[in-house]
Amino acid sequence: MAGEKITRDMFDQLMVPCYAPAPFIPVRGEGSRVWDQHNKMYIDFAAGVAVSALGHCHPALVEALTRQAKSLWHVSNWLTNEPALILAKQLTESTFADRVFFCNSGAEANEAALKLARRYAHNHGGHEKVEIISAVNAFHGRTLFTVSAGGQPKYSSGFGPKPANITHVPFNDTIALQECFERFGDKICAMILEPVQGESGIFPATEEFLHLARHLTSWHKAALIFDEVQTGVGRTGALYAYQSAGVTPDIMTTAKGLGGGIPIGAMLTTHEFASAFGAGVHGSTYGGNPLVCAVASQVMEIVNTPDFLKGVKARGEKLIAGLNRINERLSCFSEIRSAGLLIGCELDGAWRERVPDAIAAAGKEGLLVLAAGPQTLRLAPPLNIPDEDIAEGLARLEKALLKGFGKK
Ligand SMILES: Cc1ncc(COP(=O)(O)O)c(C=O)c1O
Repeated sequence: MAGEKITRDMFDQLMVPCYAPAPFIPVRGEGSRVWDQHNKMYIDFAAGVAVSALGHCHPALVEALTRQAKSLWHVSNWLTNEPALILAKQLTESTFADRVFFCNSGAEANEAALKLARRYAHNHGGHEKVEIISAVNAFHGRTLFTVSAGGQPKYSSGFGPKPANITHVPFNDTIALQECFERFGDKICAMILEPVQGESGIFPATEEFLHLARHLTSWHKAALIFDEVQTGVGRTGALYAYQSAGVTPDIMTTAKGLGGGIPIGAMLTTHEFASAFGAGVHGSTYGGNPLVCAVASQVMEIVNTPDFLKGVKARGEKLIAGLNRINERLSCFSEIRSAGLLIGCELDGAWRERVPDAIAAAGKEGLLVLAAGPQTLRLAPPLNIPDEDIAEGLARLEKALLKGFGKK
């Protein structure tokens, strides 16, 4: 293998074909910029998929990782470790939660949340309290339980019998939500919601919908679970989106940005709900790994300050202003939806439903962007992206949309 040329073709030869990656291979990153094998530079408006919260190779994260790498990499969950305890303290002190369960991804965090809600209901409400309410077009991960809780059949069909007793209501439809709770009543054990639906196209929940979900779950002694895997860790301009919505869940999941690029997931909850899990009831070999927790702790330290979070909002506004200017010139977006630095541009006219083409055109111009649903370009840059990279990225996006599709 030594000396052999690594090419994009190898992906098609070697990998299970779950993905269709771009024709170039990134090899290096710094801040909001990435370079490919041919030293071409890309402005990163994607941050993985809203993961690299502080950009690539942030010096403080590199320092935290190397320091931890020289002391302790891994212990089993028969032992605890200092970085995990420090991170748990940071997370509980900065949120509603009293207790934390660490795992390795967003799906695993949601799997833990759904299992906890079912177990709590089983202990306190009996064997019929199993109904889970979710939203149409929701996305909660790729395990069989989380694709079933998710509201997009394309991710859950064809895998055999699914976990049952999950009902989906149209997102932001308060009447449908009310009717659903009238139908299932006290048999409901949990409602799971994204405060901003991410994968389906960046759709923020209305305050009315979130408040009603809180009211109905409390009334029926069911858990309200907020999936903040994508919205968490400063992405929307609040540390967690629930904090600006003014609706507090019983269980919250976080992943993506928390590790700044290193895999981690966490489920946060109250003393009361946490009491439904005892030793051995749930677990994960790598959950709370010291290397990951040391990095995540540093991410939290940097992100969780009023100035940093104000900066996220300001950068979001700057990006939106630039996107509006592009739209004035090209009429390429029918709508721009956003929450902080989570932005969805719905492609319009000749561009409509051509998101993969737009991503490819951006790539050619040296810009990384994402899809969200069939019609939406998603932008989720690092939360600390400098002004000059916002400007350069916008210029490259405009060029891509002009060149790729021609001016209307
Ligand atoms: C809201 C939400 N929940 C869960 C997940 C799944 O996270 P992971 O891919 O880390 O399992 C995602 C990933 O995109 C997400 O956006």
